[in-house]
Amino acid sequence: MQYELPAVGIDFGTTNSSMALVTQDARVQLASFPTSGADTLSYRSVLYLEQVKQESGARRTHSWTGPAAIEHYLEAEEKGRLIQSLKSNLPSRTLTGTGIFGRRYMFEDLVSRILSDLRKHAERQFGTPIRHAMVGRPVRFVGAETDEDDAYAVSRLRDAFAIAGFESVEFEMEPVAAAYSYESTLDHDELILIGDFGGGTSDFSLLRVGPGVRRRGRTPQDILGNSGVGLAGDAFDARIVRKLVSPALGSDSYARSLNKILPAVPAWIYANLERWHYLSFLRTHDVTEILRSARLRALEPEKIKALTALIEEDLGYQLHQAVQRVKFELSYSHTAEFRFSDGSMELHIPVTRGDFEAWIADELRAIQRCIDSLFETSGILPCEVDRVFLTGGSSFVPAVRRIFATRFGEDRIRNGNEFTSVAHGLALRAEESLRSVCSPG
Ligand SMILES: Nc1ncnc2c1ncn2[C@@H]1O[C@H](COP(=O)(O)OP(=O)(O)OP(=O)(O)O)[C@@H](O)[C@H]1O
Ligand SMILES: [Mg+2]
Repeated sequence: MQYELPAVGIDFGTTNSSMALVTQDARVQLASFPTSGADTLSYRSVLYLEQVKQESGARRTHSWTGPAAIEHYLEAEEKGRLIQSLKSNLPSRTLTGTGIFGRRYMFEDLVSRILSDLRKHAERQFGTPIRHAMVGRPVRFVGAETDEDDAYAVSRLRDAFAIAGFESVEFEMEPVAAAYSYESTLDHDELILIGDFGGGTSDFSLLRVGPGVRRRGRTPQDILGNSGVGLAGDAFDARIVRKLVSPALGSDSYARSLNKILPAVPAWIYANLERWHYLSFLRTHDVTEILRSARLRALEPEKIKALTALIEEDLGYQLHQAVQRVKFELSYSHTAEFRFSDGSMELHIPVTRGDFEAWIADELRAIQRCIDSLFETSGILPCEVDRVFLTGGSSFVPAVRRIFATRFGEDRIRNGNEFTSVAHGLALRAEESLRSVCSPG
């Protein structure tokens, strides 16, 4: 791999992306992105496409990414297509592209729109062209079952970077990158466990880091193992929708059909609510007909009316925001209220942290199994770990942190830079890679 200055790290996240650069005087600088409010260090990994009518009457498709995508989406009277969690589709061989406003877009092109805007923002801020980068990848992509699936996802991501104007990129595991970031705070060597909990994936690495390791030169044996599972914050959100939102919109409701009592609305419609950006796919004639007839026969027609309004008004984003709000509140408080209005129904539903933890119990177990397998395959014992570093937005979930507190004790846990540690570490990794290429011998 030929590296050229500047040393750049890019964390293309399922929910948020970030970017960092190591300056000539060895300082790490994070890219910051303008929003209508304050600048932020993390860039929402979203893409919005909208048809804009021109003076001639012809329609042209415009697209925006990051905070501008959300702002344009919210301002638009006639909503276009807001797409998020693109990273989670990278391993899918069936999803090669999608039709938007009568035009077919290759999946890699959609991803590249976000990467290209990230690059341009950073170039403006740092005043230097950016053509090479160290890029993060999860240990296991969402939905990937085999190493081949992961390799396929990486190759598509590489293609998207090429389309976005990068001449070369190198990949590093996201938790290993987070370890580099944590290591930069150390004045002694440690054996650490990293847990990076994002929107799509939960990733783990066991490794030796520290100034002594750096001085003697890293060896492959310093990485004792990596493991990952394709579920995190998005999966928690989906559970909140299934257990809290969908029942309020009739998922447990019944309808009279001749002499029988049957579910009022087919389950697949609610499955689409769980991935909020699929909600716009429900605005079809067939679904309208299903809901109209369900409402006439339903035992609780007001719930079906609320579901219909949600779909017709295309309120997927607003629903997702309400779900995020209640999830965030439960990270800091034991009780919260889910609040959402779709014009037809005002939902005010009290929720406890205990409810939420029961809803995500399967996901928490899968995360625990993933950590167990890391220790089994590496042959390391939990008591040998000096520190556990937790990062990523979903590490704020108390039940996630408790998994580690129970096994390792609170005093061994550190956390921080939840949204930037991976990009920060990737930039350090890029710089190290650059130095090893440039150093004699
Ligand atoms: N305070 C909070 N409590 C609970 N969850 C939170 C909190 N803040 C952020 N999150 C969740 O963290 C996730 C985003 O975290 P992050 O930005 O680290 O993910 P990402 O890097 O984009 O995803 P990935 O690493 O999986 O590709 C979202 O699911 C978000 O809802
Ligand atoms: Mg991440």
